[in-house]
Amino acid sequence: MTAEANQILQVREIHTYYGLSHILFGVSIDISKGEVLCLLGRNGAGKTTTMRSISGLTPAKEGKILFHGEDITHISSNKIAKKGIVTAFAEKRVFGNLTVKENLEIARRAPAKEKKQEGWTLEKVYSLFPILDKYSNRWAKTLSGGEQQMVCIARALMANPDLLLLDEPTTGLAPVVVNDISQQVKLLQREGMSILLAEQNFLFAKELGDRCTIIDAGEIRFTGTFEDLESDESIMKKYLTV
Ligand SMILES: Nc1ncnc2c1ncn2[C@@H]1O[C@H](COP(=O)(O)OP(=O)(O)O)[C@@H](O)[C@H]1O
Ligand SMILES: [Mg+2]
Repeated sequence: MTAEANQILQVREIHTYYGLSHILFGVSIDISKGEVLCLLGRNGAGKTTTMRSISGLTPAKEGKILFHGEDITHISSNKIAKKGIVTAFAEKRVFGNLTVKENLEIARRAPAKEKKQEGWTLEKVYSLFPILDKYSNRWAKTLSGGEQQMVCIARALMANPDLLLLDEPTTGLAPVVVNDISQQVKLLQREGMSILLAEQNFLFAKELGDRCTIIDAGEIRFTGTFEDLESDESIMKKYLTV
């Protein structure tokens, strides 16, 4: 297989705006099939905007985004989700007045036709997040922040993504919960899920990621292995809060 054929996502020099505010300046990112790429950067660096550009919520004005080699830059967010890019955003999007089970069931989408495996079911999601099985009939709003974050990730899985965008899954969570989520993401990784993981938590990211890329003020400042990053203290200090 060529390197190109092995890539699930190619973000090429994108520029993204909110109204007249120019936020992303030529951002490029590549993700291979089955890779967990960490997008690191301080608060306000452009991580969420990058994810919004990929998912079509705030489309890029310039540049290109290819998914399985297909240009999706100007496709609607709904169609992009159907093609298999699903986001679990930091602002936890659970429906508080629905039960955990209902939250999961309404998020279910059949896997893309060309896929042979059965995909994610309630049962499979519950085996990854046993606590959600236990609380299956509770209103989502009665769950803790960490549990709601799990509902959020579980909902994304129910949509059967090919590429999962995880936007700061650990922000605001207690260390013990961060550890749970870390284990769950590791299991997904072992299943071969391709993931773009936006994080400010360097140590959490390092546990999970294959490679990382650093964004600052809307520009990519580094892409490489965690080893390379750690050996360059100046980059660490300049762009990350460690
Ligand atoms: N809806 C918006 N309108 C205008 N500016 C925004 C909006 N959302 C985010 N921004 C700005 O875009 C920049 C990048 O934000 P964001 O992508 O959310 O960063 P991160 O996710 O890395 O914290 C910040 O300067 C932020 O203030
Ligand atoms: Mg963000």
